[in-house]
Amino acid sequence: MLIEGKNYQSIWPDETDNTIIRVIDQQKLPFSLEIKELRSVEDVWTAIKEMTIRGAPLIGAAGAFGMYLATLEITHHTGIQDHISNAARYLISSRPTAVNLSWAVNNVREKLDGINDPDLLSSTALKTALGICETEKENCRKIGEHGLKIIEAKSKEKNGQPVNILTHCNAGWLACIDYGTVTAPVYLAVQKGIPVHIWVDETRPRNQGARLTAWELGQNSVPYTLITDNAGGYLMQKESVDLVFVGCDRATSKGDVANKIGTYLKALSAFDNNIPFFSVMPSTSIDFSISDGLSEIVIEERDQDEVITVSGYADGEIRSVRICPENAKAGNWGFDITPARLITGFITEKGICKATEEDIKRLFSDKFK
Ligand code: MRU
Repeated sequence: MLIEGKNYQSIWPDETDNTIIRVIDQQKLPFSLEIKELRSVEDVWTAIKEMTIRGAPLIGAAGAFGMYLATLEITHHTGIQDHISNAARYLISSRPTAVNLSWAVNNVREKLDGINDPDLLSSTALKTALGICETEKENCRKIGEHGLKIIEAKSKEKNGQPVNILTHCNAGWLACIDYGTVTAPVYLAVQKGIPVHIWVDETRPRNQGARLTAWELGQNSVPYTLITDNAGGYLMQKESVDLVFVGCDRATSKGDVANKIGTYLKALSAFDNNIPFFSVMPSTSIDFSISDGLSEIVIEERDQDEVITVSGYADGEIRSVRICPENAKAGNWGFDITPARLITGFITEKGICKATEEDIKRLFSDKFK
């Protein structure tokens, strides 16, 4: 997608030296556009943990490139498969909730099984990581086409008045290599001249909505209004929200969805106000091995400092300030679970389905054993 009119992905290997992986530093946006270099497994782990890069498909792709970098660190002809398994475990430990990470890392690891030649290991790993990036981009492109139908139908129903879509966190192209999940249909709608307007939840504590989604939409000429996380319910009551589109970090085979903390409250409000609520995801975000979100999905707990402080831009630099009494204690759950019964449907690369096992199976029968 575009930054100042120039096309970018949120992760790519350096054009002249493919032992360097480049990423857009999401900790610096929207205040400055900085590209960070990842040169080792540890660099990738830290970038994911500290959220230099974040968003389910992107951390999956980064994990895959991390496996490639692990193959470049092989110096001996013994213990190669142990080294690879250790790297996989280490990378997966960086963030627990999004299933894309373990899916992508394990995907590379399986391709490396039984190979002992260092050159073949690294070329196989790089090829697989690049393939994962291409698959995720294509998934998002198709999601855009399917999701567009929902926006088009709503636009018709409203006789061309702007379709107001509320979103939470950032499920945009930054989170997904390109296009985004939630944003893919929105960008297509704008390209087709369908009037849309996005309500952007700021998404405390890290403000991915305020910092990333608002920036992305602005760069791509999509009208939006930034709102506090608590405003959505009121806007829904006032009939100012036509659709809710949120991302997904891990969905279950029965349709529960883990996404950024606060998503569940939006689903409750949408349900109470009869507003369609869609979780938008590639199938790499569906964990077909589990069925119950609340008991089976590990919810990441992050440092309390993210809640105790707010970071923003002042006097030419990013600064962090405390917003509560000194020594205040805080809890910081990164995600919550929206139960399937509150979800109108999933928008996936294979089409739209209800958040039920039966309908998920209709689209992804090959994934059910
Ligand atoms: O903690 P984050 O910023 O990685 O959380 C991201 C989200 O919750 C997104 O909605 C999700 O990863 C979907 S990305 C298309």
